[in-house]
Amino acid sequence: MKVFRCKICGDPYLGEDVPTNCPFCGAPSKYMVMAGYWEEPVIESLSEEAKDNLYSALQLEVDNIRFYKCATEMTNDKEGKQMFRALSKIESEHASLIAKILGIEKPTVTLDKIACYPSYQENLKDAHAREERAIKEYSKFFKAAKEPRIKEIFQALVQIESDHLRLAEERIKK
Ligand SMILES: [Fe+2]
Ligand SMILES: [Fe+2]
Repeated sequence: MKVFRCKICGDPYLGEDVPTNCPFCGAPSKYMVMAGYWEEPVIESLSEEAKDNLYSALQLEVDNIRFYKCATEMTNDKEGKQMFRALSKIESEHASLIAKILGIEKPTVTLDKIACYPSYQENLKDAHAREERAIKEYSKFFKAAKEPRIKEIFQALVQIESDHLRLAEERIKK
């Protein structure tokens, strides 16, 4: 078995092969490296703009965790329930990553049963809208970032949330 590490969330993964996506933050396999050959970059200082954008991103992730937690609880569809559960975990990892960069505690998100819809299809549509919004915001933050590490993170987040968008898209009944 080998020890890999995700260059985005920094979490270690044990396995024979690189997974197609980081099981923790969802980053594509190109971000998974041999753990012995990578050091987490230290961010010397953050511009005010980067800080503002990171706080906005954190808020967005927290809102989405609340939504996906609710959707997990409310969804009866066997696959859909597990999909929402996985998404809430991934968004939670994104919130941890952003909070770590900001040097703050990750906000705790408790189950709120009015943060989503009672119907699976409505939740899929809401998930789609939320991922679309995240992609739009993170693309903006990616372009604005001067710090290479912040740029790298927002670029990866755009890719990850785009995967999530397709996940919802493939399940919405037209
Ligand atoms: Fe990761
Ligand atoms: Fe996210």
